[in-house]
Amino acid sequence: MRIVLGVSGGIAAYKAVEVCRRLVDSGHHVVPVMTDAARHFVGAATLSALASEPVPDGLWQGGIPHTRLGQEADLVLVAPATADLLARYAAGMADDLLTATLLATRAPVIVCPAMHTEMWEHPSVIDNLATLRRRGVQVVDPGSGRLAGGDVGPGRMAEPNEIITAVAARLAGEAAPAGGTAPRASAEPAGGAELPRERDLSGRTVVVSAGGTREAIDPVRVITNRSSGKQGHAVAEAARDRGARVVLVTASMLPAPAGVEVVTVESAAEMERAMGEAAAGAQVVVMAAAVADFRPKAPAEAKIHETPDLVLEPTPDILAALVSRRAPGQVLVGFAAETEDAVARAWRKLERKGVDLLVVNDVSAPGSGFDHDTNEVSILESGGGTTVVPLRSKRAVADAILDRVVARLRGESA
Ligand code: C5P
Repeated sequence: MRIVLGVSGGIAAYKAVEVCRRLVDSGHHVVPVMTDAARHFVGAATLSALASEPVPDGLWQGGIPHTRLGQEADLVLVAPATADLLARYAAGMADDLLTATLLATRAPVIVCPAMHTEMWEHPSVIDNLATLRRRGVQVVDPGSGRLAGGDVGPGRMAEPNEIITAVAARLAGEAAPAGGTAPRASAEPAGGAELPRERDLSGRTVVVSAGGTREAIDPVRVITNRSSGKQGHAVAEAARDRGARVVLVTASMLPAPAGVEVVTVESAAEMERAMGEAAAGAQVVVMAAAVADFRPKAPAEAKIHETPDLVLEPTPDILAALVSRRAPGQVLVGFAAETEDAVARAWRKLERKGVDLLVVNDVSAPGSGFDHDTNEVSILESGGGTTVVPLRSKRAVADAILDRVVARLRGESA
């Protein structure tokens, strides 16, 4: 892969030398770009010797359009990213080759901030990072430790190991199996040939629900299910990487993905409210959550000390409510977890729920369903098409679902 390694001016620039060497050793083509300030910390000759090509002189070097490096990159990594670099990037400035590259690229961007604690905690740095995260920039947070001048505290750039791991994960995650639909997908091994995806959800809002809701019995106990939320979170991350603005309404304990607006909920009632609000302006709604189907009718206000006779009531059908209020052209995706006769039941569910796509998985199949990192699904479509996605990572399954969503947005049916 072609990786632009941007180095800005901080003492952590010395670690960029190691990052560069490791990326080249892993077989990547590394294009080094230094800010003027970075040259005070490491020599351009050092980076030029280790990278795949020499450090360009700057924006005014003859023959290189200022956009070329960004356009050609598969990934842009900035390590270290100083407070100044982050501010210029967040403001959309392009006053040197690195910021021009960042502005011109459509590839994923990873930044590794490094600065003194006071700067790291300054509201302007916090705001700039929030802006960048919202735009989908991945941030490898700094750790705590010795800083320039002998100070100690948070702001120390992540170690090369962590940065290399983040790059490898992003390159693997960004990529998705070629095609992604039934006959082509079936021909591929799990985790097989991978191609970078285009940002085909740019300008769209995608709302995703995830996780199993928890319905209170009393202040201590809940009714819930085995859903981990991994598939829903993977859909949110995949949509983010394909350029969408993403709102994730989650009842899962998983960490919040970067670059995604997260609304944390507990019960079906909370999820219904949050989804109703978020879905109003969305072009795509993916209801991946395992909503508890029933809940205690009258949860106790104090802890129960005897075995209760629970009286249950059905939870609101969130998906049905979303279908009844769908905006013109909005694509709605439901999920069905089944343990037997999965596909036949799912066709009936697709009709009943009135969704465009229904993703069905047999949660009793090996490697599939709850809490696994892999899944095996069929995507059923109103109008009759089916896409069979064989066992693969939940991220790859997410991309296969989004392939069909994109096709529906374009007015194509299966
Ligand atoms: O009917 P069933 O629970 O199998 O339907 C599953 C689909 O419906 C999922 O997409 C799930 O998120 C959604 N659902 C819902 N509200 C409920 C129950 C399920 O939106 N109360």
